[in-house]
Amino acid sequence: MIKSDVLIIGSGVAGLTLAIKIAKKRSDLKITVMSKNSLEESNTKYAQGGVAAVWDKNMDDYEKHIADTLDAGDDLCDKNIVKIVVKEGPSRVKELIKWGTRFDKNSKKGYDLGKEGGHSENRILHYKDITGAEIERALIAKAKSYSNIRLLQHYYAIDLITQHQLGHVVIRVTPNIECYGVYALNKKNNDIQTFLAKKIVLASGGAGQIYRSTTNPVVSTGDGLAMIYRAKGRIENMEFVQFHPTALYNPAGDNPDFLVSEAVRGFGGILKTVDGEEFMYNYDKRGSLAPRDIVARAIDNEMKVRGVDNMYLDCRHLDMEKFVAHFPNIYEKCLSIGIDIAEQMIPIVPACHYMCGGVKVDEVGKSSIKNLYACGECTSTGLHGANRLASNSLLEAMVFAHRIAKDIVKTVDDSKIKKGIPEWKVDGTTDPKELVLITQSIKEIKEIMSSYVGIVRSNVRLKRASDRVWLIYNETESLYATSTVSPQLCELRNLITVAFLVTSAASMRRESRGLHYTTDYPEKNDFLETIVQ
Ligand code: FAD
Ligand code: SIN
Repeated sequence: MIKSDVLIIGSGVAGLTLAIKIAKKRSDLKITVMSKNSLEESNTKYAQGGVAAVWDKNMDDYEKHIADTLDAGDDLCDKNIVKIVVKEGPSRVKELIKWGTRFDKNSKKGYDLGKEGGHSENRILHYKDITGAEIERALIAKAKSYSNIRLLQHYYAIDLITQHQLGHVVIRVTPNIECYGVYALNKKNNDIQTFLAKKIVLASGGAGQIYRSTTNPVVSTGDGLAMIYRAKGRIENMEFVQFHPTALYNPAGDNPDFLVSEAVRGFGGILKTVDGEEFMYNYDKRGSLAPRDIVARAIDNEMKVRGVDNMYLDCRHLDMEKFVAHFPNIYEKCLSIGIDIAEQMIPIVPACHYMCGGVKVDEVGKSSIKNLYACGECTSTGLHGANRLASNSLLEAMVFAHRIAKDIVKTVDDSKIKKGIPEWKVDGTTDPKELVLITQSIKEIKEIMSSYVGIVRSNVRLKRASDRVWLIYNETESLYATSTVSPQLCELRNLITVAFLVTSAASMRRESRGLHYTTDYPEKNDFLETIVQ
């Protein structure tokens, strides 16, 4: 058994910021950070555009950032949380800079502030087009400088430990469910170990891998969401899946899809048809820089009406020297598949990008389960409502990491490590004979979600999706009951759970709002609120 004061699942911006903040305040606490792959492999590493924060007060102010966030969220944001994140955000970005993160500067030696869809001002701090990789680099280096942080790579968290493992019946309405730790698989030797802690934090990121096309890396299988759902914790807003309008269209097929940052449109890139016609003004007066839900839906519609596989982003009119300096990674990637941005339009297509819903948490990141917090993309804090404003998620993770750290530092001494927790039971199970049963089911889930629970939904499509997900669920539970635990099998179970959560929340929302659009209820219904599962 491995005991810590604080156990954090995830080493993206949320998990690492939190670990550093706790370690800084309390050198007496043992903090364990666990990552299922290498430390840096996370959504954070792939973030391109940057971090939104009110920086230049001559040009921008909190009220504008708050208004933009609320407008994107389509009346489902928690106003108090929006204010908290916007107002506390700049201090968190300053800390990140103090810890060694570089952001690009302009010729006047101030920070170069980019613009993205739905933002009324330039407020995105960035490091070229690889902001996330730079943040991750700086955070890993900083975390390694604390001797009380233990960083574990290639450990796969399987399940949360609650009263359930002590033989108590725990159902969704059981009061006072408590978390004591997790069972995790050491991927190097296949041992399942018991990790116990006084405070546990899920910082396990998103779930984009439930779709065939996604900008999320393969680690984003919604494990934290599925774990808390199995432990009977509360989850909300799962119908609001954000599709990024501009993933690079690559017929060869990439997993993940390569992102062409929204900052490219902020820099002047324009969405066009194959004939060079600018179509976005037919949908919104903000044109190519309208909020993501509107742009993704418009592209989806144009593709369907025209019967084509992709639309285009035209950058040929832009200053190429400046473009390459700002977006070297995007420029190189396009070249690598034969597209010279100076000469050709970039083929683009929408792809699943971000999970707006997640673990329901309060103002200090507490979930509905005692001693269990959640931070970052796996949460629903109330910031994003029905549609996240671009570049607000790195900010949200940092603000909440700060708040959770404060709460943990204050309360950790009141909690004890639970005694009498049994080891993981492996009796009666064997290695699955045919791995293809798992890989094929993963493919099926992705197909179902992409075909029936994508950008445009309907009652018939959602019913088809839930019937098919149910079938795969039953097959997989039988397999799980008789098989040795493997990350692939666990990920399949988790993908099924998240697919179920998204599909059922979408079926319950009988209106169109933000990222959820259904042809059966095309209007917004002002009386409908958050769906909690
Ligand atoms: P992640 O960074 O995804 O980290 C999750 C961690 O949890 C990983 O370490 C993973 O290994 C670990 N983990 C998961 N499951 C388990 C398990 N079972 N056991 C052990 N460990 C586990 N947002 C912005 O604000 N600005 C941007 O410019 C931006 N660009 C983006 C570009 C791309 C291509 C993508 C994919 C996202 C982008 N986002 C952006 C969103 C943003 O990057 C993420 O929301 C944010 O980084 C999430 O951070 P996180 O720490 O919550 O999760
Ligand atoms: C992008 O660079 O377009 C991604 C920004 C985000 O997802 O917030």
